[in-house]
Amino acid sequence: TRRVTVRDLALAKERGERWPMLTAYDAMTASVFDEAGIPVLLVGDSMGNCHLGFDSTVPVTMDHMTMLAAAVVRGTSRALIVGDLTFGSYQEGPVQALRSATRLVKEAGVGAVKLEGGERSLPQTETIVQAGIPVMAHLGLTPQSVNTLGHRVQGRGEEAAQQLIRDAKAAQNAGAFAVVLELVPAEVAAEVTRSLHIPVIGIGAGPDTDAQVLVWTDMVGLTGGKVPRFTKQYMNLRQALGDAARAYAEEVVGGAFPAEEHTFH
Ligand code: KIV
Ligand code: NA
Repeated sequence: TRRVTVRDLALAKERGERWPMLTAYDAMTASVFDEAGIPVLLVGDSMGNCHLGFDSTVPVTMDHMTMLAAAVVRGTSRALIVGDLTFGSYQEGPVQALRSATRLVKEAGVGAVKLEGGERSLPQTETIVQAGIPVMAHLGLTPQSVNTLGHRVQGRGEEAAQQLIRDAKAAQNAGAFAVVLELVPAEVAAEVTRSLHIPVIGIGAGPDTDAQVLVWTDMVGLTGGKVPRFTKQYMNLRQALGDAARAYAEEVVGGAFPAEEHTFH
């Protein structure tokens, strides 16, 4: 088997085929999603919230990213693995951005990188693409800018919608192979999707994008506390894991585990 390529995703857009993307932060979970046929796995800097215990993506470093992306690559054989460039690893300019992207490709083995921003990240995108590394752009709500944007829906109002379309076209012109749109009105996402020849991946962006992405811990109901309205919980893994842990604890305390079949003589 060979891995999914950015060329496969371009063909899917031509054929009008929709596809799912999930995040992954470890080898074992990634292997489950790979076997389930998810074609693209994102080692997102959402690992800050979902895996490392931070309260935003801002503290995540390229050391964290490289280690977990390498694990996801090792756990998979079919999916295209995309790694996020972390906050502070590309904002200084194209030279720094290329160094970070190259590290993620060489040390972790990812097939593509993602960075936040359209027009503002144009020189970085161009330089990384010219070096032969596919780039995915991330527009709309860009969590690395939480301190300026907060968690509000982006691209509301004519002016903001036009800027979003300009950003998407800038990313495409710079050579990006796909664009993520996070937390934008469905109507704006639909217009961006129609305007671009590269795939548009939505999260909280309505039903009319070429693809969808969800954070895996949200998708299975593992994330604690309040979950955004745009995610769907396909199971309650938090409840199921808690039940398993409580059953195990009860059996250890009560002496029911280990039983004869778990015991060597
Ligand atoms: O880090 C992440 O999980 C992401 C997705 C929400 C697109 O960037
Ligand atoms: Na991210």
